[in-house]
Amino acid sequence: MRYVAHMDVFAVPFLFDTVPSHPKPHRRTMTESRPNEPDLRVSFAGIELPNPILVASGTFAYGQEVARLYDLSVLGGLVSKTITREPRAGNPPPRIMETVGGMLNSIGLQNPGIDAFLAEYLPVLREAGCPLIVNVAGEDAEDFVALAERVGREPGIAAVELNLSCPNVAGGLDFSTKPQETEGVIRAVKQVCSLPIFAKLSPNVTSIVEVAQAAEAGGADGLSMINTVVGMAIDAKKRRPVLARGTGGLSGSAIKPVALAAVWRTSQAVKLPIIGIGGITSATDVVEFLLAGASAVQVGTANFVDPWSAPKIIDGLAAWCRDEGVDRVSDLVGAMKTNA
Ligand code: SIN
Repeated sequence: MRYVAHMDVFAVPFLFDTVPSHPKPHRRTMTESRPNEPDLRVSFAGIELPNPILVASGTFAYGQEVARLYDLSVLGGLVSKTITREPRAGNPPPRIMETVGGMLNSIGLQNPGIDAFLAEYLPVLREAGCPLIVNVAGEDAEDFVALAERVGREPGIAAVELNLSCPNVAGGLDFSTKPQETEGVIRAVKQVCSLPIFAKLSPNVTSIVEVAQAAEAGGADGLSMINTVVGMAIDAKKRRPVLARGTGGLSGSAIKPVALAAVWRTSQAVKLPIIGIGGITSATDVVEFLLAGASAVQVGTANFVDPWSAPKIIDGLAAWCRDEGVDRVSDLVGAMKTNA
């Protein structure tokens, strides 16, 4: 599969004026469970999702571009690009690169900041018609608390996802590599925000299970896992790293086995519901994550390959369930058999 290259899709989200028109997918509402159709609805941390397929932070901007292509209400949920207290320009380019089976990014949390997000982007996002999850990141616990407090006061938001795991900024991994800090920041956020809190965890640790357990102890309502895997590309002729920052985060199909193992191990060790993330490009990938113990998934890098990926995967999941005689997709969660 070829991933998007040569264009900084994070900075200049999509040049969709050049994308051919595509029929809008059928709008399927949560209450509309048609006879003989598999029931795709899942409940996640008390949130009723119309289906288990969300779009991942940093791969869908704030929904505006893709809303011109299809009806976002078909999504199981939309996770915003990470918001910080102040606007951020991100890291200097080059900051994305295609790799075998994936892509590296070192965007560095480019975003308009919480004030602009609430004033300009959130009102439009509320129109999406699907559950909305706002992803936030801070340099310290106080930042996370301040952001969650402000987001929590806003109507129309289903949950807050704490980005504890960005590998592209100084200290970005601290809150998901040191279990005590994970627990502490979540505990502090829970005191000021009544929305469900999801902790987005890093695979760049010896034991993601320990960090997940710390998130559970801190009062998290769900886990999003995994964020990107630290990686590097080198230009042999120039004898330099390709990315200006040296390293970046690897995403896409290349990391799916890493993500599946992380979800499976974690699901055995915590009671929290898990959103699986990492290289999901098809309905079969979704089923694998559900069997491993995830209750929902986020589609990320695939959005750059094909912006219609998520609705196609949702339709594909319904077809998979029909073919396999599965009436309720929730029956697949954690249903993997063990090898005797
Ligand atoms: C970035 O903006 O650097 C990507 C976000 C992340 O890795 O969490």
